[in-house]
Amino acid sequence: MAAPSLSRLAYSAQAYARVAWYAGHHILARRMGGPTAFEHRDVKLRNKWPTRDQILRAMRDLFDRDWANIDAGVYAGPDAPDRGGLSAIFRSREFLRDVPSVARRRRDRAHDEVLSDEARAKFPRYYLQNFHYQSGGWLSEESARIYDFQVETLFSGTADAMRRQALVPIAAHLKGRDQRQLHLLDVACGTGRFLSFVKDNWPRLKATALDLSPNYVAAARNTLRLRRDIDFAEANAEAMPLADQSQDIVTAIFLFHELPPKVRGTVVGEIARVLKPGGLFVLLDSIQDGDVAGFDALTELFPQAFHEPYYESYLAWNIRAEGEVAELKFVSSTPAYLSKVVTFARP
Ligand SMILES: C[S@@+](CC[C@H](N)C(=O)[O-])C[C@H]1O[C@@H](n2cnc3c(N)ncnc32)[C@H](O)[C@@H]1O
Repeated sequence: MAAPSLSRLAYSAQAYARVAWYAGHHILARRMGGPTAFEHRDVKLRNKWPTRDQILRAMRDLFDRDWANIDAGVYAGPDAPDRGGLSAIFRSREFLRDVPSVARRRRDRAHDEVLSDEARAKFPRYYLQNFHYQSGGWLSEESARIYDFQVETLFSGTADAMRRQALVPIAAHLKGRDQRQLHLLDVACGTGRFLSFVKDNWPRLKATALDLSPNYVAAARNTLRLRRDIDFAEANAEAMPLADQSQDIVTAIFLFHELPPKVRGTVVGEIARVLKPGGLFVLLDSIQDGDVAGFDALTELFPQAFHEPYYESYLAWNIRAEGEVAELKFVSSTPAYLSKVVTFARP
């Protein structure tokens, strides 16, 4: 077997340093009774818990694929200078300071703290919850500031590598085309993390970052402040302020498991409406029941440990059939560790 190249070693060193950093926070938060304190041993699960080896092997497979894509030039590696460093230490402090509040919310099953008459006038009811028992729900500036750190801690440093798998079908779709003439919409852009990867690779692609949370859109503006050709929209994915057939690519990363079943259908319909004929829809979200052998216990535990009111129905959601109702043609479904990338074409 050939020795791994220096760049491969550098990639692995960086990837596993991230795992150590975020898995360390995962363990620390658990000790503090925080977000990940819920243990599979605490509950009766129908499915058998995977072995540590199974989990580590699946994680290694994700990194192997991520590296293979980077090495083959499918997309750029995770080395943009505006990430990590001192800000990681700052975020770590903020994350840890928030852990007791999350622990308290979970103990008291308190998930309606952001529900108020004022908020009801502006947002749908299903949106006004403390998903994952997070402080401020989707509404506060603090929530937006620590969100990326929380997600990486939940996934022990693998979230970005999973998100990057959604770049693979985008790269294939854009091959040989002039990116300056094309539009990509990221629905539920959160803090703009995924769009920053898109822009690392296709800086002149026209993009729209859409999210219902004013503070998450503000965070996305900040994340993407050095990038050009981006519009921002504070809007509901159920009724997007975008013209019919205006988008070449639509992405939705970690959105659908947070939506009630009916709303999922409405949003897929909206995505089909704004896509041009020949356009691409890339959905990245949690694996579902039966997607990865031995992992059903992980998805079974998740909604018991966190406030995820629509996750169980998501596990059984027929994504392919939903796309077909909206006249989207199913193309592929590819698991990537704890997530999967599903693609559709608009005929
Ligand atoms: C789990 S986060 C995913 C964020 C981001 N895509 C990522 O990769 O981390 C879910 C996001 O969906 C947004 N969201 C939820 N319901 C929405 C809706 N109906 N319309 C627009 N955005 C919505 C939330 O504000 C939040 O930013």
